[in-house]
Amino acid sequence: MLSKSRGVTRLILKLEDAICKPQEICTRLISTQKVIERESKYAAHNYHPLPVALCKGEGAFVWDVEGKRYFDYLSGYSANNFGHCHPKIVEALQKQSAVLHHTSRAFYSDVFGEYAEIITKLFGYDKLLPMNTGVEADDTSCKLARKWGYRKKNIPKNQAKIIFASENFWGRSLAAISASTDPLSFEDYGPFMPGFSCIPYNDLTALEKALQDPLVCAYMVEPIQGEAGIRVPSEGYLKGIRQLCDKYNVLWIADEIQTGLGRTGKRLAVDYEGVKPDILVLGKALGGGVYPVSACLANDDIMLVIEPGTHGSTFGGNPLGSKVAIAALEVLEEENVAENAYKLGEIFRVELRKKLNKQIVIEVRGRGLLNAIVINRNFADAWDVCLRLKAKGLIAKHTHEDIIRFAPPLIITEDQLRESVDIIVRTINSIEID
Ligand SMILES: Cc1ncc(COP(=O)(O)O)c(C=O)c1O
Repeated sequence: MLSKSRGVTRLILKLEDAICKPQEICTRLISTQKVIERESKYAAHNYHPLPVALCKGEGAFVWDVEGKRYFDYLSGYSANNFGHCHPKIVEALQKQSAVLHHTSRAFYSDVFGEYAEIITKLFGYDKLLPMNTGVEADDTSCKLARKWGYRKKNIPKNQAKIIFASENFWGRSLAAISASTDPLSFEDYGPFMPGFSCIPYNDLTALEKALQDPLVCAYMVEPIQGEAGIRVPSEGYLKGIRQLCDKYNVLWIADEIQTGLGRTGKRLAVDYEGVKPDILVLGKALGGGVYPVSACLANDDIMLVIEPGTHGSTFGGNPLGSKVAIAALEVLEEENVAENAYKLGEIFRVELRKKLNKQIVIEVRGRGLLNAIVINRNFADAWDVCLRLKAKGLIAKHTHEDIIRFAPPLIITEDQLRESVDIIVRTINSIEID
């Protein structure tokens, strides 16, 4: 039985080799249809995936189980900024996993401190608080801000308020959905966290009004709203946030989990206006796409309000994640990833604006390689366009019914980018509009 199934596997591998390069695509005998059926039978239906079953990734590409190659224009929701299976990141993961993977911070490890030193020096903060997923790091920032509010701003006990921007997205925990303005996120999950409220995004007047309340300890905001549909604020918004937070003694928490680490064409999106948040939150690509690593960065006057035993995480700061994060940050710097994203992002938007049928695509927007197009719903919806793109060899995901996000790995080459622009233009311009 065993030898027979091995024989079948070998045969299938040979067939796949004939279909596509590079080789070693898949070791499993399974079709897209079977993958989809199995997943929907045994896994919760909390996502609605595009009908594509992937089994391999390399650089800017992924392959499905039938051997078809796609440009990856989602990059695992920007976790794969450095591409699939980046050799340096994979090597760090493999080597450290064979030496010391997890200790917990009940003990010191030789790697965590090294990582903390590297990341704090790179971003110019005194201290790192390590977590794993993005939502945990954002939640941690809210806790940090509340504690700072009680200890440093003398906000009366249990009355601290945090302001968020409408259409924010920072994950799926009860705290995160308590700050959400999207009914899909929060409906039927109440009761919600008190002390959270929202103001319109990109509105400094509304921000000033909200910050006048002496109970407010923090304003948490994405420098470009990602899940909301790549909403780029007006120039001066980030500087304005900095000034208002200083004026009213409120902490600015910048959620750069999606926008950070080169995605928008700078190391951080706040770099566009040369401003520094009080608490910087990173995640996604910090783990190189291979391991969940997130971080809160702050200076001592804020970070040291958290004392031993008052916050923690079993896996946060473990040696494996620390080594992976060091490798990811080295790739970011050594390979000029942000510069590449900046340059190719300009080309991407110029080409799409020039070539796309303007009746079908109302707007092309973004920064660096975090971009979106807005589809005219009279002619198509975003899901349908994503299906058409998939058929032509490019996978992307919609963020609303009329918006598609385009976020390829930042190590994509200019030739690859131009080839994918061709796919997008040909696909969209072939939509019938009569
Ligand atoms: C800006 C932002 N913050 C936080 C999160 C949550 O990250 P995670 O899914 O790793 O918890 C996301 C996820 O998309 C995000 O885009």
